[in-house]
Amino acid sequence: MSGLALVGGSGLSRLQEMEIDRREFVQTPYGAPSAELTFGRLFGREIVFLARHGDRHTIPPHKINYRANIWALKQASVAEVIAIAAVGGIRRDMEPGRLIVPDHIIDYTHGRPHTFFEEALDAVTHIDFTHPYSAHLRVRLIEAAERAGLFVCRSGTYGCTQGPRLETAAEVCRMERDGCDLVGMTGMPEAALARELGMDYACCAVVVNWAAGKTETEIRMDEIRANMDKGMQDVIRLLRCFVSAE
Ligand code: HPA
Repeated sequence: MSGLALVGGSGLSRLQEMEIDRREFVQTPYGAPSAELTFGRLFGREIVFLARHGDRHTIPPHKINYRANIWALKQASVAEVIAIAAVGGIRRDMEPGRLIVPDHIIDYTHGRPHTFFEEALDAVTHIDFTHPYSAHLRVRLIEAAERAGLFVCRSGTYGCTQGPRLETAAEVCRMERDGCDLVGMTGMPEAALARELGMDYACCAVVVNWAAGKTETEIRMDEIRANMDKGMQDVIRLLRCFVSAE
């Protein structure tokens, strides 16, 4: 069985269902990861958990040390990464509460250290990123969601914005014209860094609000929190089915 990591996002800085063996602070050539790596079992399956925004949810999306996080997981012999993400829904069927396993990414971020391949190189290195998520891991996530009786969108293009502010309505219109179905702030460069280190990576996204301009009303943080709480319970149900099939 290959090493499996869960990277928890907003709404999932702690995995209460996990039986914890140990926590380890890993130093990397890129600095410190967002939090200690937590080693243990989730529903009987060995996993490593990492809180992307820190264990007290204090690190904003553009300040996350994505390189240190992915490097630390690789050091811990992780081969597969499931990224949990709270997102805004753009496409009409991506309403709050919906689970999505995206199959594509458009990156709107800037200024984030985004590659391991920039210093002390033997040669300039380009990775293939045509299909940014692992097909095999995506299928297993989708099947787990279905076994759990959860309705899941089997595809979608994740537009990754810089944050930490939410988007303007015009930005969301542009993203929609570009082909984005959902919007989040942390999918990149995380996915590309995992690919650079040869790890399988897939995302399980939970819609916690309609993206800006998709409803008449402003985006309210209390609604986001309520949808997040419920959505993360669904993610746990999905993960229970995911690990029991391993
Ligand atoms: N935009 C960007 N990131 C998000 C959103 C959003 O509307 N909701 C949750 N994460």
